[in-house]
Amino acid sequence: MQNEIINLLKKENKLSDETISEIKDIDLSDFSNIVKEIGKNETEYIKASEISKELNTKYIGKSLYVYNEVSSTNTVAKFLSMNGVENGTVVISEKQTKAKGRSGKQWESPLGGVWLSIILNPNVDYSKLPLITLATGVAVAKTLEKVGVENSEIKWPNDIMINGKKVCGILTEAVSKFNTIESVIIGVGIDANLNVDEFPKELQDGTTTLKEELGREGNENLLIKTFLEEFEVISEQFTHEGYEDILKEWRKRSYTIGKIVEVREPFNTYYDAYVIGIGKEGALVVEKIDGTLEKVISGECIIKN
Ligand code: BTN
Repeated sequence: MQNEIINLLKKENKLSDETISEIKDIDLSDFSNIVKEIGKNETEYIKASEISKELNTKYIGKSLYVYNEVSSTNTVAKFLSMNGVENGTVVISEKQTKAKGRSGKQWESPLGGVWLSIILNPNVDYSKLPLITLATGVAVAKTLEKVGVENSEIKWPNDIMINGKKVCGILTEAVSKFNTIESVIIGVGIDANLNVDEFPKELQDGTTTLKEELGREGNENLLIKTFLEEFEVISEQFTHEGYEDILKEWRKRSYTIGKIVEVREPFNTYYDAYVIGIGKEGALVVEKIDGTLEKVISGECIIKN
């Protein structure tokens, strides 16, 4: 039975929860070898050979794992990061069945989007995670500019917007050991070759896609390649030069600064505030109605004007 499932897994290139639970008694290193092996296949739309062709990076995307379907690329990336893969490894899937959004939300990931996770070993502490997310937002915005979207903006902390609608979300997670970060998993979801009516009704008003904005379908592999190159430039910048220039680039594209927002921090009551800017640690700096200043490290802000 186990062999049958493993063969099916290899044939379909799918890592669904059902198949994983059927083979859960398998040795972990054997399982990680299977996960790695099936990730080396080509899928119908995502072709590692096309992404790698003339990919101008030193380490980002030099090792690619591509799947037809996974629960979440972040979950697979975490698993691989604990089972010996190199810095800059990228996990991509055509579909996700249990993709994760921020604040425990679900993320819609039908066929046609770009769903990927980068495994990075950046040697940073927890305080740098928000900055890595902001830096990734800048890399996505630059990528969109390269494929023809000139007016993308970044809504704090990590939503990429076009004409006031969300086209991309970023979820950064840490893999830690003894309270130190071993790897950072940077999950990026871009609504690329999708129609807005493919999303649930309640999301349609606030969502857009590259296909809708550009009026045509684009090449997913080229989009991924461009993003990986932009990401490496940014990653080199924050590793060797710090975050100041990245924050400048972020501020230039900010959708949030200068707006009245409702701040929703975890474990705190909601309040309205005016957004003044973004601090050097990546926090949003807001002025409350009573004139006091506040730094918002995590949470969400809902734009009110
Ligand atoms: C958000 O809520 O805005 C963050 C969404 C992040 C979605 C991406 S898609 C690829 C990666 N895998 C996941 O499960 N989530 C991220």
